[in-house]
Amino acid sequence: MALRAITRVADQAGYSLCDAAPDTLTPFARLVVVGEIRNSDDTLPVRQWRESYPSAFLVGFLQAPEQGLWMTAERAGFDLVCTRGGLGPALRKVLADDSLTSAERAIAVCNSADIAGRLGHLMDLEVGALGKISLWRVEGRVVCTGMCPHQRASLARGEIEGSVVTCPAHGSRFDLISGERVRGPSDFDLPCYSAYELNGRLWVMPHR
Ligand code: FES
Repeated sequence: MALRAITRVADQAGYSLCDAAPDTLTPFARLVVVGEIRNSDDTLPVRQWRESYPSAFLVGFLQAPEQGLWMTAERAGFDLVCTRGGLGPALRKVLADDSLTSAERAIAVCNSADIAGRLGHLMDLEVGALGKISLWRVEGRVVCTGMCPHQRASLARGEIEGSVVTCPAHGSRFDLISGERVRGPSDFDLPCYSAYELNGRLWVMPHR
């Protein structure tokens, strides 16, 4: 059922359909990946897709709008989460919008050499499309976040325990990998963006 809808929309938009990304695709090929999310394990390949195909637009669909699974999928890095019923219209919109599937969505923010061998907070920097961001290396991976959503303080001087950082301004705590708010006063999760190293540079994807 879903495959029929995907095939129809892809045909109309001039995209060709493949079961798996072919080896011949370059990392910045124009690519939309669609995956069904039945449980949280189905969100695990997202990071690998992001690393292999930085410019891919990732769409995940659920059979029903189950809130917990929906949020897990968003946190995992899907660009768009929708229901099975909303998949056709959502996909049509994505394929018609060049700015969503363009390789230019990925932004090179620094050289890998600038952050090699460093842990914890790496740097704060201003990136046009995203504003002020922070780069971190926690639990063996590079992650990119926005500022504290409470009053926009930088978390750079925050204490880190595992993957959880404490805002030095008023004490909100966030998981740096998922963005999840662990403690207030912030009412919101920390904005997170996909970050990956490729060809000697660190790329950030403003996926939401
Ligand atoms: S600015 Fe971070 S908790 Fe207030």
